[in-house]
Amino acid sequence: MAENFVVATGDKRAKYELLYRQVEALVEGESDAIANMANVAAMIDATFHFWWTGFYRVVEGELILGPFQGPVACSRIAYGRGVCGTAWCERRSVVVEDVELFEGHIACSSASRSEIVVPIFHGDDVVAVLDIDSEHLAMFDDMDREWLERIVALL
Ligand code: SME
Repeated sequence: MAENFVVATGDKRAKYELLYRQVEALVEGESDAIANMANVAAMIDATFHFWWTGFYRVVEGELILGPFQGPVACSRIAYGRGVCGTAWCERRSVVVEDVELFEGHIACSSASRSEIVVPIFHGDDVVAVLDIDSEHLAMFDDMDREWLERIVALL
């Protein structure tokens, strides 16, 4: 899969459609969760060039940094803390148009202006979250949320 990865062009929908199909193919050929998270972070980064794209895994009651693309980030996030901990605790995707207006936002990087966090479920449990930060305000909308939810459901 890695050798065949194609960076999508076109509008946002076209990019997500191709990205989705490629993540589907990736996951079909590899069962290791960390390897897949690493390649999915790289695929999203190669497609959209967001400021930071990565995963936090639920490990013994907290979120621990997983594979990512971008600047150095916080290693651990407590349940209910920050945007990531909120998405985990509330079991839903959280879209933040302006991180300065989100009470409790954890600023791993001062350049980050907007953010989306999507929980990853295995059965009923949240096992990880996908976190994406942008250096632009209001970068993420419902289309991003819907496609990213579909993509992480493959993991
Ligand atoms: N901003 C996140 C912390 C993780 S970094 O953005 C990579 C939060 O508030 O949970």
